[in-house]
Amino acid sequence: MNIEIQRSTTRRIRVPADQLGFGKYFADHMATMEFEKGAWKNPRIVPYGPISLEPGASVLHYGQAMFEGMKAFRGKGGKLFLFRPVFHAKRMAAGAARLCMPSPPQEEFLSLIRSLVKLDQDWVPAERGSALYLRPTLIGSESFLGVRASDSYLFFIINSPVGAYYAEGFSPVKIWVEEQYIRAAPGGLGAVKAGANYAASLLASQEAKKKGFSQVLWLDAVEKKYIEEVGTMNVFFRIGDTVITPSLDGTILAGATRDCVIALLKEWKVKLEERPISLTEVFAAHKSGELKEVFGSGTAAVVSPVGELTTSTQKYSINSGKVGELTQRLYDEITAIQYGEKPDTHGWIEEI
Ligand SMILES: Cc1ncc(COP(=O)(O)O)c(C=O)c1O
Repeated sequence: MNIEIQRSTTRRIRVPADQLGFGKYFADHMATMEFEKGAWKNPRIVPYGPISLEPGASVLHYGQAMFEGMKAFRGKGGKLFLFRPVFHAKRMAAGAARLCMPSPPQEEFLSLIRSLVKLDQDWVPAERGSALYLRPTLIGSESFLGVRASDSYLFFIINSPVGAYYAEGFSPVKIWVEEQYIRAAPGGLGAVKAGANYAASLLASQEAKKKGFSQVLWLDAVEKKYIEEVGTMNVFFRIGDTVITPSLDGTILAGATRDCVIALLKEWKVKLEERPISLTEVFAAHKSGELKEVFGSGTAAVVSPVGELTTSTQKYSINSGKVGELTQRLYDEITAIQYGEKPDTHGWIEEI
């Protein structure tokens, strides 16, 4: 694929890694291409900046929008690694089909990412815990009114240098069990990284934050009985010596990090069950002392220990609010692979 490159003549604002936070700054360039008349065309890298859309663009009215979230890391000796790029290309393709959008062909998706990260390589922070977060995005760009799929699309990838997710260290978070609002219903978009899912989640997380919680625990939309995800992470429960995570039944996102956690647990011969898990089961395990660890998994935080689950009627402290042993081991192992410090036996990283 021939990628045209238009270099930026100015440098965007940069701050030291410890002030980066998450998603606040963007690197100098972005990659983009368009889908028109049945074909992807014009792959190019241009300076980061505003995009042009007509006010009638379908994404602005009917929400044909989805994205990916992945990272590039700088390891020892300055080597650059992409983490699970093929997984993300495939997930975007699957999600695009559900939203009636054409997805960028895998090779073009990967070539654009590689070229962009190479060009913006001095934006990949070197500090352990930091990374260059990549946001491939796909939107309907045809200008028309009337509910149907767009005929034209815009694909772009923007880059955001991000700092260590845990400003105060790797510490357990407090979670609100959401019993009123739902995130996704069976047959809907829950398994897709569609903008619409995040719009649906905002009110619940805003209210939970006001009450002092970091994220919400989503329950199933039908019975509000089974556990789905925790905020923007998949969730795992260690009950006794078994780790349980909700199965991928169409309402939750198939996380790249979830997949890593499952692979490692299998390798470590930890008993693992992917199945529906109810709140009742979790709270019964808490009562009997069998609930040892709860953690979320996701690209932003890798794994995030949960120290407290609170419902409208009760508060449950987990592992006395301390980081669990397995949670810590998973965090250490995955981050060591991401920074090229441990051999990657799974084919998760790609050096560029
Ligand atoms: C709703 C939701 N669930 C789970 C995840 C975790 O997925 P991944 O591990 O691929 O980042 C994310 C984040 O991407 C998410 O937004």
